[in-house]
Amino acid sequence: MDNHDEHASPSTLQPMVIIFGIILAIGVVASLIFGKPVVDDAVPAVAAVAENIKPVAVVEVAAPVTEHVAKSGAEVVKGGCAMCHAAGLMNAPKIGDKGQWAPRIALGYETLVSHAVNGIRSMPAKGGNPDLSEEEIAAAVAEMANQAGATFDSAKFVKAKAS
Ligand code: HEC
Repeated sequence: MDNHDEHASPSTLQPMVIIFGIILAIGVVASLIFGKPVVDDAVPAVAAVAENIKPVAVVEVAAPVTEHVAKSGAEVVKGGCAMCHAAGLMNAPKIGDKGQWAPRIALGYETLVSHAVNGIRSMPAKGGNPDLSEEEIAAAVAEMANQAGATFDSAKFVKAKAS
């Protein structure tokens, strides 16, 4: 029993000694490279810098979210939807084409907005621009459909959604 233990303990200790040695060596090398005073000075300095830039960083991160100004329907259409809907690419209903829009207008404003947000057949979700909000899509749908005879009111739609 005793004999067995004497053999087992060095073989389990050996890897630990090696690991400890490596950690010690890294510590010695690191302290030779950086020097203890430098490390001691650097830590509070870094903390102070982080504290100084913190309010700025928070503002910078928050700004795009709070300052997201909703684009008008016309802006959204011009900046994206028109790419397909101006010329009728892939059979997209052409802006101003009453014949092409009438059966779609008949589906109702809410359905059309939902189709534009989620995509339908070859119409990509949000016209391929995931940054657009549902309100912006609703405004763009009204902008296009109203040029083909609809009387969709995107302001009312957004209000109804919010309540
Ligand atoms: C890459 C081309 C493309 C872009 C960009 C695009 N559309 Fe479309 N859209 C289509 C096509 C194609 C259809 C016809 C889909 C069908 O009925 O098969 C369509 C259909 C629609 C319809 C009718 C959906 C229905 O239920 O019949 C609406 C509403 C619509 N698009 C809104 C938009 C809006 C709003 C934008 C911009 C945010 C936009 N589209 C951008 C290609 C596009």
